[in-house]
Amino acid sequence: MDKGKVDALLGIVFGDEGKGKIVDYFTPRYDIVARFAGGPNAGHTIIFGGKKFVLRSIPSGVFDKGKLNIIGNGCVIAPDLFMQEARELEQAGYDVRERLHISKRAHLILPTHRLLDKAYEAAKGKNKVGTTGKGIGPTYSDKASRTGLRVGDMLEGFTLKYDTLKARHLQILSDLRYTGFDIREEEREWMRGVEYMRGFSLTDTETELNACLSEGKSVLAEGAQGTMLDIDHGTYPFVSSSSTVCGGVCTGLGVPPRSIGEVFGIFKAYSTRVGSGPFPVELTDETGDKIRSLGNEYGAVTGRNRRCGWIDLVALRYAIMLNGVTQLVMMKSDVLDGFPTVRACVAYEKDGRQVTDMPFDTEGWKPVYEDIPGWLSPLSSCRSEQELPQAFRSYVSYLEQQLQTPITLLSVGPDREQTIVR
Ligand code: IMP
Repeated sequence: MDKGKVDALLGIVFGDEGKGKIVDYFTPRYDIVARFAGGPNAGHTIIFGGKKFVLRSIPSGVFDKGKLNIIGNGCVIAPDLFMQEARELEQAGYDVRERLHISKRAHLILPTHRLLDKAYEAAKGKNKVGTTGKGIGPTYSDKASRTGLRVGDMLEGFTLKYDTLKARHLQILSDLRYTGFDIREEEREWMRGVEYMRGFSLTDTETELNACLSEGKSVLAEGAQGTMLDIDHGTYPFVSSSSTVCGGVCTGLGVPPRSIGEVFGIFKAYSTRVGSGPFPVELTDETGDKIRSLGNEYGAVTGRNRRCGWIDLVALRYAIMLNGVTQLVMMKSDVLDGFPTVRACVAYEKDGRQVTDMPFDTEGWKPVYEDIPGWLSPLSSCRSEQELPQAFRSYVSYLEQQLQTPITLLSVGPDREQTIVR
């Protein structure tokens, strides 16, 4: 961590890598923690002191007194959900108002954006994206169409702007024949959320952040979702709607590329995916079920079963390239403790052709595996590299060699203490 730099912590596959735990672990080293993309589609689980918190829009530095947290311009916010999340933290004794600044340029998710999300999904038939239903896509569409509402709009002439956008949405819903909804109560709660948000520091976080960097302060950019869900580089169209990659840190916070320091790429010892879309390493058999149940792979936001599979080195190499990852963080290695052999996908194969670079169309590819001996002993009680079984250490070296990037942190359980620095 260098002073005056923005380090990025990014999920580098399909999200759900366990960023919450690692951001929480890293936070003490940084002055500022900032979210740069996504919104309440994220669910960052943090466990400490026997308590579990799921953060959706609020950065994970909110638990530390004296730390500034920023929701950047690249994010989208639903005022009603934000109010719920912030109130829970306030009730648990955390001074969210004191510790959080929200960019005036971040976009607002309206109740009608959530309806549009559902309506578009319904219209897609069997090609559904399997969104979280939080209105993410329609909100980013309005941003790109230059019709969106921003946090700063709450401060002046808001009612007219809100009514105009809502009318536009209702017209689209009617054109799609998506009817029979009643959002009056939801809308009232949303307006209460707007009022609540007005009590927060709604600022030009971009200017603020750059001033902090000039003063030598350090920033951790907390990613959301993962590289394979990036709007440009993911498995389009089965992606989210924001820039989840390192480039998104610059656009989503308003910081220049030269301010980026370390790029931590976080991944699991196996693969998971929620929602639809290509997933070459998916295991639909007992092994997949075993990984799901041992890894507790159920969505933090939607509760959906996550699809599970072996580690995908094709996807990881692609993500390391796109993000310029300088250090890797491997999560949930302990989940694979009981497997005599673990597998790693080193290439994809289709019609007798093998590729090791991510193809344009990820549909229909089969994984090519290499088998690695398992370690068959519990990792969760290990606290240092020396305590790790030799077979596991060989597996880590194998991954480093395949990925040409050092794995500097290993997580062997959900607790803060179950983290091994290498
Ligand atoms: P949306 O972001 O709600 O539009 O959903 C688009 C796709 O991204 C769906 O497949 C979701 O399951 C997936 N997705 C969105 N947020 C997350 C996340 O935080 N973790 C994992 N998958 C996510």
